[in-house]
Amino acid sequence: MADKSVDVIVIGSGIAGLMTAHLLADHLNVMVITKSDVQNSNSSWAQGGMAAAIGPKDHWQKHLEDTIRAGQHHHNYEHLKLLVKKAPQIVHALSRLGVSFDRNEDGSLVLGMEGAHQQRRIVHVNGDQTGEAFTKVLLRAVQQRATVLQHSPVYELINHKDKVIGVKTNKQVIHAKATVLATGGLGQLYQSTSNVKEATGDGFALAYRAGAVLTDMEFIQFHPTLLTKDGVSFGLISEAVRGEGAKLIDEDGNRLMKEHPLKDLASRDVVSREIHRKLQGGTKVFLDCRELNHFDQKFPGLSKRCELAGITPKESPLPIAPGAHFISGGVQTDVNAQTTIKGLYAVGEVACTGVHGANRLASNSLLEGLVFANQAANHILLQESASEPRVDTQSMVIKRFSIHCHLPNKEEIQSRMTKWVGIERSAKGLKEMRRWLQPFLFAARHVRDDDTYAEIECKNMLLTAAVITESALKRLESRGGHYRVDYSERDDRHWLGRHIICSKSRGF
Ligand code: SIN
Repeated sequence: MADKSVDVIVIGSGIAGLMTAHLLADHLNVMVITKSDVQNSNSSWAQGGMAAAIGPKDHWQKHLEDTIRAGQHHHNYEHLKLLVKKAPQIVHALSRLGVSFDRNEDGSLVLGMEGAHQQRRIVHVNGDQTGEAFTKVLLRAVQQRATVLQHSPVYELINHKDKVIGVKTNKQVIHAKATVLATGGLGQLYQSTSNVKEATGDGFALAYRAGAVLTDMEFIQFHPTLLTKDGVSFGLISEAVRGEGAKLIDEDGNRLMKEHPLKDLASRDVVSREIHRKLQGGTKVFLDCRELNHFDQKFPGLSKRCELAGITPKESPLPIAPGAHFISGGVQTDVNAQTTIKGLYAVGEVACTGVHGANRLASNSLLEGLVFANQAANHILLQESASEPRVDTQSMVIKRFSIHCHLPNKEEIQSRMTKWVGIERSAKGLKEMRRWLQPFLFAARHVRDDDTYAEIECKNMLLTAAVITESALKRLESRGGHYRVDYSERDDRHWLGRHIICSKSRGF
């Protein structure tokens, strides 16, 4: 197998990975590796936009307060302060790079409203096509200045003497002084998801096998509104649609959230649970957009998908169901996006920076990816100037295990995660999941030379599912994206500020 060396490997081509690559590419030899087409990422599907306290009556402290309320006081407050303070600078930096944010006639930014925000603060592009616009601009910036390897899934991170020194892909071993995980999320562990098909939890499993610490993995956010007709999903309906006045109703036209102080814009965990319970009880749920003005202009992407589904939003309410959307936990990182393993960084959804607490506030994810990409890039550049000589790995042997194991198919994992580790959890269901996973775990923990990538992806899903299940079993309360029917209250006395930590050396 041919060996290659670069300064920095970025795994993943969402906006966090692309921004890291962009910031480093003039100084270092950077390689972006992605398992699919470079434009396939959750980032490029992001609709609502990016939150920034940039309006005349806004302040970063208000953005901070809203983030803390939605995330139920489970944050890293220093990291969060950095996030909300940097947000306006990120908007300006993206504008300079060529992102054309939607603007009013006087040139001011159009600010959207989303759930659990006190005021309008979401900047966006072409209505609901913000992620695609960010991705295009960043890709253009990176493509001439860094090597981009598409369709090159990473099989494993190479850990040599407690330091990540590169990766093994399907084709080669690539050494690097710094490796940046930017692999996104894990929505594909569930039956219904807003995520791209590539979001199979790979980064969490790669980091776990390399020995890194994962934190807060029980906090999975389910988005309340996926356009879902006859069991088929037509993608996300942005919360911005409710921000413009759309209402959640049942099949008899009754308002679903009328008792909640924030009504249809209550936080996602609350709304998703309400919808989930209705659906479980056999009641259909809809988003009523019939009163919205300029629907097609404001939400061109959604309009097209409604057309595909054969629905006219002016005439009929949109059928909806919740779906897995985002994980607030992940690979634990410090303020410089460093994981607990030397040489390994994590940015974007795969990272747990602590800024989301137990439940991410709408439109904070693109922001987090971009702010911490900056942190990672700055730190990598600093390290580079004090760089150690490259480790000699010529004679290094990667230890192999040769246990063959029948693996389940993706659909089996998805149906069990949905049933037992979904919107509502209990000790009984979580233990069922643990029992089901048990026979696969030895295989999932190890990658074999003769594994196909389909097998590795399945192992990644199993290992990530196991980490979520074990974390969810340990947290004996309900908070944000983790709801236990057997511990249905938030319990600050025992759980405030307590994080569930997982790693290979802990057994989980
Ligand atoms: C949405 O537009 O509702 C999704 C955006 C986000 O998750 O922040």
